[in-house]
Amino acid sequence: MACRRAPRSLRRIAKLPCCRLSTASSVALRADPALVGAVRHGVASSSTDPLPAAPAVTIYPDAVDEAEEAKLVRDAERWLKRKAFEGGHFDRVIVHYREVQKKASAFSPGSQKVIERLIQAAFPPGANLLPVHLLDLDADGYIQPHVDHVQYSGSSIVGLSLLTDAVMTLHYEPRGYHETTEADKEKLATEAPWLPLKLPRRSLYVLRGPARYEWAHAISQQPVVGEGDSESESSESDRTERGRRLSLIFRDGAPG
Ligand code: OGA
Ligand code: MN
Repeated sequence: MACRRAPRSLRRIAKLPCCRLSTASSVALRADPALVGAVRHGVASSSTDPLPAAPAVTIYPDAVDEAEEAKLVRDAERWLKRKAFEGGHFDRVIVHYREVQKKASAFSPGSQKVIERLIQAAFPPGANLLPVHLLDLDADGYIQPHVDHVQYSGSSIVGLSLLTDAVMTLHYEPRGYHETTEADKEKLATEAPWLPLKLPRRSLYVLRGPARYEWAHAISQQPVVGEGDSESESSESDRTERGRRLSLIFRDGAPG
């Protein structure tokens, strides 16, 4: 749901009723701060201004185990298999993807338990959640920098990455939400201060606060950084192929 222009997916989400999930037994997730890279100047920027502080981002590796991943993927396949991957219209934020929104109660009982556990870990009790957004990004698919539409979703974006490792990049955009032209998007991707977030397969990320509102997020076609990425440029050998990626994105409804 890349949302600057309130695309169809968002309009659909807005019509679906919100659902409230009961709490499930708690499982301790352990965040790994090493998955959050350092802020650096954009590749096309000649700025010597001080870099903004990195926004707080939480990434929990191994948020689900392999069996749970397989079950979630099986559930998703039932809904996605008849859909074709959508190509890349020039101003699309997301390219080569399929998607669907489903209430948590539509998942198989085992997956529902997993979803409840993740929601309990990532949201405050009683959070009013939108249906789960399942985004299936083909191996050559990608997501351009964007801020999820503030009219349709609330203060938290929580994503579970399945099937492949990926890199999310955050791009500094302190102006907050506004319509963006193609040129703006390009500028944002290459000139704004940015940082990489490693999203290992089966990890859960949480974007809220400045990471939700002041930094645009994107998923690149290829992971762009490798080990020890903090200051040095990544070398060719650091790069790993990104395969097809399935994400489950949990969002709360917009306030009001
Ligand atoms: C989106 C989005 C990120 C992800 O759909 O708006 O940014 O993890 N998705 O798939
Ligand atoms: Mn988004």
